Amino acid sequence: MRGSRLAKETLATEALQAMTSEHGAANRDGSRRPGFRIVPGYLGRDRQEELLAAVRDVLRPAPPYTPRMPKSGRPMSVRMTNCGPLGWMTDAGGYRYQQTHPETGAPWPPIPDVLLAAWNDLSSYPHEPEACLVNIYDAAARMGLHQDRDEADMTAPVVSLSLGDSCVFRIGGTRRNDPTRTFRLGSGDALVLGGSARLAFHGVDRILPGTSTLLPEGGRINLTLRRVTRPQPAPGAVSD
Ligand code: SIN
Ligand code: MN
Repeated sequence: MRGSRLAKETLATEALQAMTSEHGAANRDGSRRPGFRIVPGYLGRDRQEELLAAVRDVLRPAPPYTPRMPKSGRPMSVRMTNCGPLGWMTDAGGYRYQQTHPETGAPWPPIPDVLLAAWNDLSSYPHEPEACLVNIYDAAARMGLHQDRDEADMTAPVVSLSLGDSCVFRIGGTRRNDPTRTFRLGSGDALVLGGSARLAFHGVDRILPGTSTLLPEGGRINLTLRRVTRPQPAPGAVSD
């Protein structure tokens, strides 16, 4: 049962990757959704190890914590932390960006150079990212379908890099009830949500334990780079 399900997912992945890597994902009406891009194997093993070392350097001063859902305060299964001038937070008080770690009160550590380089390479956006959310999944963790919509500048994409075990990633359209599809996202894969896919609903159905040897402890780490505020116009710039 499990094998045939995985085989189907792999086929779906291959079909989707063939479609998206060149042209962007198909919309429901068969047109293309520019701005949605998967780059399988974007980071080779050496670069994955380099990124993992940089993430461990972030986790020391900014230890992972358990985020909570707005209002209900229900704990999420994913643990989180951030690096960058701003960090994305959720607790009973709601979703927001803030400058400090909720438990230590310290500013988030800076975004490592290896992530800034990936942003410069993949985002086609001329300003620095301001936040990098670090999501840490154990074998049982998942993330429900949601949009990334707490940012003021929607012209910047969200750039995502994954390390460790593969996951079943789900993506749909910009309305919650739009049809969705799933594919596997593995260690070193990059995904970009930009353009008309910037507000696409997405989530992680499940982790596929034992699919990567990168993390000795198993599980998956996902890093999403975001621009949060609108860049200030350059002095003397003419605005319309
Ligand atoms: C997220 O949407 O914040 C994370 C997605 C992922 O873990 O791939
Ligand atoms: Mn998201």
